[in-house]
Order: sequence, then structure tokens, then C-alpha cells
Amino acid sequence: MMNNIFDSHAHYDDGQFDSDRNELLASLEGKGVSGVVFCGVNIPTSKFSVETAHQYGYIYSAVGFHPLNLSDYKDGDLEIIKELCKDEKVVAIGEIGLDYHYEKESRHEQLELAEKQIILANELALPVIFHDRESHEDTLNLLKKHKPKGVVHCFSGSVETAKEIVKLGMYIGLGGAVTFKNAVKPAQVAKYVPSDRLLIETDCPYMTPVPFRGKRNDSSLIPYTAQKIAEIRETTAQEILDLTAENAKTLFNIK
Ligand code: NI
Repeated sequence: MMNNIFDSHAHYDDGQFDSDRNELLASLEGKGVSGVVFCGVNIPTSKFSVETAHQYGYIYSAVGFHPLNLSDYKDGDLEIIKELCKDEKVVAIGEIGLDYHYEKESRHEQLELAEKQIILANELALPVIFHDRESHEDTLNLLKKHKPKGVVHCFSGSVETAKEIVKLGMYIGLGGAVTFKNAVKPAQVAKYVPSDRLLIETDCPYMTPVPFRGKRNDSSLIPYTAQKIAEIRETTAQEILDLTAENAKTLFNIK
């Protein structure tokens, strides 16, 4: 069995976990999971991630607004996020970012909210967990402008974009997508990312690695992703788990 699994990005508030959340979370350490960052996407889920982090020692919390939850955002919410960041289990501002896939929300408003949250993260000296979907150019411009610490999670860009992210001192998060048959770019990125900048993640309940693609994802399935990355980098899955756990602890300032 593999151990030292650090899942740098999970959504355990999701309704798909309602039937067995506590049972599952109580079982993960026994399956080799040593750390999880539970990312909020709005105020209620951010509060829930903080509560959950207090129930389980190995869980840490990230708080913030996801771009697709823009319509939940109200004046004063940033103050609530700032308040939540005082909690000792909060290790990042996230999940924040830009998502141009659905065009559901205005790009201008997404940019504005992402920028406010990056500025807050810099003020609090916390890293950001950044979501970039079909918004690589605006993402890079924003990150270059403010130079936050952090990770671009579930990275879907090219090696060229990854190089820019790494140059900014940030980390690249890879998940189940590297195991997908059509995953050309994620595989190239998995080969390129410097060892000290790689994080591994589930983005669960989504992005389930092969051979469980289509089923619910959770942190215990990370070894399948690690195995694929290990094959690409010609090393062992345990080695990938060890280095990504070390990197996560460094980025999120976990002792
Ligand atoms: Ni996510």
C-alpha cells in the first residue's frame, strides 16, 4: 500500500458525499492519506471546510470564491473570508480563479473578484489556489501583475504556460486528467514540471483517474494518478507521492 498521499485539492462539501461523508473521511488515513486541502467555493462551503478541518487533523482548509460561484458573492463577503483566514487550519485562499468555459458569468466580474482575492492573499501572506479554465492569457497576466504564492490547480495549459507559472515561483497541480487516454498536454506538463513545483490532487468528487473514470473520486484514488505521473517521469509512484507531499507542506506552510 502506498502512503504519504497529500491531496492538495478536494471538495468534500459536494452532495455526492452526503450519504457517507464522515465514514469516508474517517477512513482515508487508513488508506495512506496524510493530508488534504479542502477548498471552499463560496461562503457556506468555505465555513464548512474550516469546520471539517477541525474534525479531522489531516484536513486543512482553503477559503474563497470560485469564479462560477460569482453570483453568490455579496458586498462584505471578502471581510468574512478575511476573518476565516485567522483560523489556524486555513492554509490558502481558494478556490479562486477564472473560468471562461461556460460564459455564464461576466469575464470582467470574474477578473475583478479573482484580483481582490489575490490582493487579500498577498496581504495575509497566504498562497492562492487558482482555477484556470480556458482563460490562460488572463490568468497569466493577473498572476504576473500580483505575483502571489500558490498553485494553478488541475493544470490544463501547455508546457509554455507551465513554464511561465513556474517562473513566477508558483506550483502546478496535476490530477486524474493525466490518466485519461486523450490527455496529451497534461502528460507533457507532467514530464516538464520541476520536482520541487509539482502538486498532486483529486479535485474530488470530479476528475476521477482511470480505471475509475466516471465514478466518484476521493483522495484514496490518488495513487492511480501518481502511478501515471511516475511512468511519465520514469520513477516510482511512492516517490511522486513523497515529493508532492513535501511540496504541499512547503507551499501551505504545514509543519
Ligand atoms: Ni476545484
